Amino acid sequence: MEWKTRITELLGIRYPIMEGALAIIGTADLAVPVSEAGGLGTITAWTLRTPEKLREEIRKARSMTDKPFAVNLSPAMDPGLDAMREVAIEERVPVIETAGSRASHHGVRVKEAGLIWIHKVQTVQHALAAERDGADAVCIMGIEGAGLKSPQILTTLVSVPMAVKQLKVPVIAAGGIGNARGFLAALAMGAEAVQLGTLFCTVKECPLAEHHKQVLVEANPFDPKWRDPILATPKAEDIRNLKDAGGTKQVMQAAAKAESTGIPKEAGTGALSLAIGFIDKVITVKELIDGIMGEAEAILTSGGIGGWRLIPPNSS
Ligand SMILES: Cc1cc2nc3c(=O)[nH]c(=O)nc-3n(C[C@H](O)[C@H](O)[C@H](O)COP(=O)(O)O)c2cc1C
Repeated sequence: MEWKTRITELLGIRYPIMEGALAIIGTADLAVPVSEAGGLGTITAWTLRTPEKLREEIRKARSMTDKPFAVNLSPAMDPGLDAMREVAIEERVPVIETAGSRASHHGVRVKEAGLIWIHKVQTVQHALAAERDGADAVCIMGIEGAGLKSPQILTTLVSVPMAVKQLKVPVIAAGGIGNARGFLAALAMGAEAVQLGTLFCTVKECPLAEHHKQVLVEANPFDPKWRDPILATPKAEDIRNLKDAGGTKQVMQAAAKAESTGIPKEAGTGALSLAIGFIDKVITVKELIDGIMGEAEAILTSGGIGGWRLIPPNSS
């Protein structure tokens, strides 16, 4: 089955799957297998800390694959990313994703340089602003997802179709997508790709220690210990403080939260999502992506969606 959407065409990828930014663990070693498996891998810039390290990481990825990959800039986590953006442009990384707060000055530069700009948001209002600013595609994440949250964030089920209804540029869905059914649901809501984060935290290629991956394999999203921090939204004043502190405060909070859930703070995984409920073993990136795509195709071509099957009008 061919999976063609405006996103697969724009990015030149086989499957409409993008790896989200992953603080600390989002390096070339994880991004490349995603691109090799037919998705779009992403190198997360801000936790590499210096433009030189980012350049090294981009060159490393290039030496490992000729497939496209992205660099993520998260200005909410680190406002000083201009030099990193310029490195990504000089190295002609085809796709630059910005996230976490308005990033039009990055976007304008990326577009001027002739590269693709994706912006990740959490509200339809911000999605519309990104479209006005010239983003080629917008990723919208619901509260089920991982990472920095907006005080106004809603669920993926509501945010994605609302964004699709109002935007002209293609929408990428993120937040709580954990298997083929979640993937198909996102496409049914009008998204033209999905962005996955949490599922990549336990793949074999992820540099997280094995015993920490096991914690995630066993994690139960119905347990308030996991659920409550994931569904917690910041207050507007927390976001203001974050800006005042240049992003650092939130990183510290994420690290503290990570420790309380048993995930090592060095992995930056204060940010996990309800998708942890779908992780039942440690597998490779290729097994993960082939598994989702294979099951999605099987659902569409044989089983039908949720027990419902389209019966052609003239069949008896
Ligand atoms: C460990 C971890 C670290 C993350 N770090 C970042 C980050 O630095 N910047 C960012 O924009 N998103 C970050 N995210 C969010 C992901 O890029 C992605 O949008 C999100 O995980 C999608 O939701 P899901 O986890 O339910 O798949 C992170 C997610 C995880 C799980």
